[in-house]
Amino acid sequence: MYRAKINGRVAIVTGAAGGFGRQFCRALLGAGAKVAALDRDEAGLAQLSGELDNLGGGERLITRALDIARFAECRDAVQDVNDALGPVDILINNAALGMGVIRDDHETNLVSLDEIEPEVWDAMIAVNMSGPWNMTKLVMPGMVERKWGRVINVTTSFFTMLRGRFHPYGPSKAGLEALSAGHAKEFAGTGVTVNIVVPGGPADTQMVPEASGFKREDLVKPETMTWPALWLCSDEAGDVTGSRFVAALWDHTVPPNEARAASEAPLAWPDLAQTPVWPGGAPADG
Ligand SMILES: NC(=O)c1ccc[n+]([C@@H]2O[C@H](COP(=O)([O-])OP(=O)(O)OC[C@H]3O[C@@H](n4cnc5c(N)ncnc54)[C@H](O)[C@@H]3O)[C@@H](O)[C@H]2O)c1
Repeated sequence: MYRAKINGRVAIVTGAAGGFGRQFCRALLGAGAKVAALDRDEAGLAQLSGELDNLGGGERLITRALDIARFAECRDAVQDVNDALGPVDILINNAALGMGVIRDDHETNLVSLDEIEPEVWDAMIAVNMSGPWNMTKLVMPGMVERKWGRVINVTTSFFTMLRGRFHPYGPSKAGLEALSAGHAKEFAGTGVTVNIVVPGGPADTQMVPEASGFKREDLVKPETMTWPALWLCSDEAGDVTGSRFVAALWDHTVPPNEARAASEAPLAWPDLAQTPVWPGGAPADG
């Protein structure tokens, strides 16, 4: 089985106390990285810290509470990570709010426009879309300067982005998908890659509550997310940017190039971007 080596790299994982976040932290530590586990859930971070210390996380792990929707908090947290572990090489933008902030039974009884308060709309866009932008804005200059960096954004299935009665979650993730496409182009050739990893369907985390009605064993296993993500963080994937990987289609028992073929596609909607009517020909791209 392939095992990525990411020795000594400094990684930030947002939403680290959640279902995918815990697995990202565990996998990165296992691959030799230093990990900053960030989340707004302080109790969840304390629990994670205890678990990972037992696994030998020790001095290679720090936890830090923050609200990623607030730029100033992100700036202070990135400074703390820098002071404790060194400059940031890897950013996994994983934190998000799900539809559970409106109702736990949002899957069996979809949410209508009149149920969404403006404050909920603003909060979800701020966390799910502005949060990743905040973090990217703060770590990108150092990555570019050192000519090495990995940004992995977690969006969702296209079905969910475009689904009726799944707002604000769907549009917030579509926004992050578009943001990722732009950053992949803007930073192409700098040594910093920008890619997306999605589970491929509903996954077995608290974001999919019991009231969703799924059998838990039918849901995507959170650990799955770490397989393409770890490979993307390795030196081997240094020229891979602007792609989205469906974790459930990544077979971790075969070599990465084989697994990649089944799991990878260009991120966002590049086919829709091919027909701009633009004065003088084509717009500058990236
Ligand atoms: N679970 C799924 O079915 C599924 C499917 C597709 C995509 N995703 C995406 O995967 C990612 C991880 O989701 P998960 O399933 O592990 O959910 P989760 O709820 O278990 O974890 C999300 C974490 O983000 C944290 N968070 C929320 N708002 C925050 C903020 N303002 N600042 C800092 N931290 C904050 C939460 O405290 C939580 O620990 C999310 O981006 C989610 O949208 C999940």
